[in-house]
Amino acid sequence: MPQRSLSNEELATKIDTSDEWIVARTGISNRHIAADGELTSDLAYNAAVDALASAGLAATELDLIVLATATPDETFPATATKVQARLGVAGIPAFDVQAVCSGFIYALAVADNFIKAGQARNVLVIGAETFSRILDWEDRTTCVLFGDGAGAVVLRAEDTIEGAGCEQRGIMSTHLHADGRHHDMLYVDGGPSSTGTAGFLRMRGREVFRHAVGNLTSVVIEALEANNMEPEAIDWLVPHQANQRIIDHTAKKLKLPAEKIVLTVGEHGNTSAASVPLALNEAVSDGRIKQGHVILMEAMGGGFTWGAVLARW
Ligand code: ACO
Repeated sequence: MPQRSLSNEELATKIDTSDEWIVARTGISNRHIAADGELTSDLAYNAAVDALASAGLAATELDLIVLATATPDETFPATATKVQARLGVAGIPAFDVQAVCSGFIYALAVADNFIKAGQARNVLVIGAETFSRILDWEDRTTCVLFGDGAGAVVLRAEDTIEGAGCEQRGIMSTHLHADGRHHDMLYVDGGPSSTGTAGFLRMRGREVFRHAVGNLTSVVIEALEANNMEPEAIDWLVPHQANQRIIDHTAKKLKLPAEKIVLTVGEHGNTSAASVPLALNEAVSDGRIKQGHVILMEAMGGGFTWGAVLARW
């Protein structure tokens, strides 16, 4: 996370909002904002270094870098190539995936398929965003919702897996969807080919909310059915941290108890593609997620895009 944090109270000194309104509607109390000159690639690089250390892998052992972002440093090249250069691993493929808030789920699916196709063994997957740069800070209906951050994981092919009960450790299945008909509900009103500017995020919140609950519920069911599992088999739901009410509604539809849900939105706000890996990092770091646990990650974002990944840690 960037160091600078921005509380609801501080926001309320700048725009017509209140801590009570934001907490009641979203569960968000705080978010982090990148400093001037601090770029998506800086956040991504820091997360990458941490993930490699945690995996006990040298950057030189990587075969591929996939970075999910909707807020790249520049229109091109891919932010993944900047991270690659800083890691000192020239030569391996590195590219960005653009699926907004579902970006990390999409990137995990891409990485998993590279591994399953035998084209990579060690893949760095990053979700990194500086949404503060595409927010209209005078639009209280959107600017209170988002924050900056980055998270990363290392996926590694293993031929045999040690440990009882962990035969299927790793990603069990991935499920991706998109529906471009809903572009106008959540988009950025600029871009290199349209306005020549970066633009600002625009959203029809109520409609997004409704679609999010429906799509996330159905993709979680799809992931469970693909693996012949019941919701009780999930040890941890690691949802996209957009809004606590979306998470609560989805969990209720799936009859998942609150104790099985990793919630970080209160402290981070919606960090788009960084949100799932940030939540994952928190629950792994504090010891909640343990080896062998079944975790279900899901996300939904602009496009619309949505998806889920079922994995055994
Ligand atoms: N502070 C105070 N009042 C506000 C604020 C604010 N920050 N924002 C809006 N309001 C006011 C509105 O102006 C409106 O006032 P009015 O009744 O006088 O017209 C009132 O609050 C209600 O506005 P609604 O938009 O109807 O509020 P709603 O209950 O729908 O909550 C919210 C808005 C939180 C955006 C909700 O629709 C939502 O969570 N949608 C999901 C959006 C989301 O999470 N998107 C993230 C990207 S997509 C994803 O990641 C899944």
